[in-house]
Amino acid sequence: MKPENFQSIIDGKTVGIYFLKNANITMAVTNYGGRIVSLCTPDKNGKIADIVLGFKSIKEYIEANEPYHGAIIGRVANRIAKGQFSLERNTYELPINNGINHLHGGPKGFHNQVWNVKSISDFSIVLTYMSKDGEMGYPGNLNVLVQYELTDRNEVIITYKASTDKKTPVNLTNHAYFNLGGEGSGTINNHILTINADKFTAIDETLIPLGDNLNVENTPFDFRKPKKIGHDLNQQQNNQQLKNGLGYDHNFVLNKKNNKITPAATVIDPQSGRQMEVFTEEPGIQFYGGNFFDGSDIGKSEKTLKYREAFAMETQHFPDAPNQKLFSSIILSPGETYRTKTIFRFSIF
Ligand code: BGC
Repeated sequence: MKPENFQSIIDGKTVGIYFLKNANITMAVTNYGGRIVSLCTPDKNGKIADIVLGFKSIKEYIEANEPYHGAIIGRVANRIAKGQFSLERNTYELPINNGINHLHGGPKGFHNQVWNVKSISDFSIVLTYMSKDGEMGYPGNLNVLVQYELTDRNEVIITYKASTDKKTPVNLTNHAYFNLGGEGSGTINNHILTINADKFTAIDETLIPLGDNLNVENTPFDFRKPKKIGHDLNQQQNNQQLKNGLGYDHNFVLNKKNNKITPAATVIDPQSGRQMEVFTEEPGIQFYGGNFFDGSDIGKSEKTLKYREAFAMETQHFPDAPNQKLFSSIILSPGETYRTKTIFRFSIF
């Protein structure tokens, strides 16, 4: 990773790359989109590989077909139906950037903004961003802070904070794409996944929630016991939910009683022995199986990033919450502090 390929001025602000280290893991972060650029971890034989997809330069991040690699997603992660919502008797119109819907905060969402580097040490970086009233159609000046911390327990702890001066929806996540065999090492369908969820959010063919959460029992969405990601993908033609998502691209409703940090998911790559556990304070997790990767982007290891060669585990409140009566609110009011935490823990299985 050459730092000079990341040194740039975008929107008049300085962009760079920053490295966090512990005894086993090296992590690189850029303040362009607050992205995790790389995460180098050992396999069961001590061989290091980069398990996060991404690019060797800022230029490639800007030009990529898939714009969300490693980024902080906001102001609202996932989709808002038809880019519209109402709040306090006002209707807000957001840019449409995904079919007929608004996705991941819009084309100039937090993933495409230059964050301010508030502090940096060997094990932590704190980024801040002020999203102006009206930016991407959202109301209120929103001050956001995100900390990435690499602990000596081989955890990446992501802490998000935000405050606003007008009521606004907020739902922040990170969009790292993982392949536990290493970037460019082939399909993730042999990874073994467990998700601590009895229910998942059913979606229509534009990936907007149908309003209800369904039981995972007796469906391809049952990951309560460890199962290969690809195990049920042969049902894609006859399972309407897999069909609508073009595979797995769904919110899972985590089994939890409060907003304390709890285990959400575990992913194991049997071949490399790498294990990743996800813990979160959030009520949901979007498990996305890389269905839109089409080989048109070339990653850090000079290999094309192909269909289902990466997964994302986006901890979140439920999609399209401002328009969904049954989902808990994501509205932040002046005087309140949005605060949430997610942990990715890495180990050998
Ligand atoms: C969404 C996918 C989308 C991807 C980005 C995921 O969070 O759920 O539908 O395609 O982000 O490309």
